[in-house]
Amino acid sequence: MSGPGSGSTDMRDLEALALGCAQCGLSKTRTQVVFGEGAENARVMFVGEAPGQEEDAQGRPFVGAAGKLLTALLGGIGLKRSDVYITNIVKCRPPGNRDPQPEEIRACNDYLVAQVALISPAVICTLGRYAAITLLDLPDFKITRDHGRAVRWKGLLAIPVLHPAAALHQARFMEPLRHDFAQLEQLLKNKNLL
Ligand code: URA
Repeated sequence: MSGPGSGSTDMRDLEALALGCAQCGLSKTRTQVVFGEGAENARVMFVGEAPGQEEDAQGRPFVGAAGKLLTALLGGIGLKRSDVYITNIVKCRPPGNRDPQPEEIRACNDYLVAQVALISPAVICTLGRYAAITLLDLPDFKITRDHGRAVRWKGLLAIPVLHPAAALHQARFMEPLRHDFAQLEQLLKNKNLL
């Protein structure tokens, strides 16, 4: 887990900066900044949309119902949370879990760019439509059509997968989500990362 005393100086400095961030209106409504956590030498980095209520309360990403499913899916392909790095596009909870606004994404972008640079993963796995379209900036991207298919992104591999919350809300997405993780597993095996 990240936090004072863990991680490289650079990552701790970045986290300290984020924890005091007031660059957008979400700083007024958040309980805590949810910076991200996991292995700083992770080969796989997961990027979700934004913290929800439980994450806002605990200050950790993906610890609510969707997070429990993510943890189980990781376990299913032989990974622990501590093997990977997990963060979100925006680090503060949008009130009522609304979509993050463009100015909030812009205000948070430097943190994510710096996290990607520090971790330097081999594979980025975006969770859900929002993270995929925001981060990967793929023309004509459609999550229902393009999930589970790896793409080249800035010299590394990215694989957009369905959001675990989608499968919790609609059971018909559970099987495709499991399939996405099977694709991720195959990708990691092909790259000798698993
Ligand atoms: N959904 C997300 O996109 N991120 C979290 O941290 C939790 C739920």
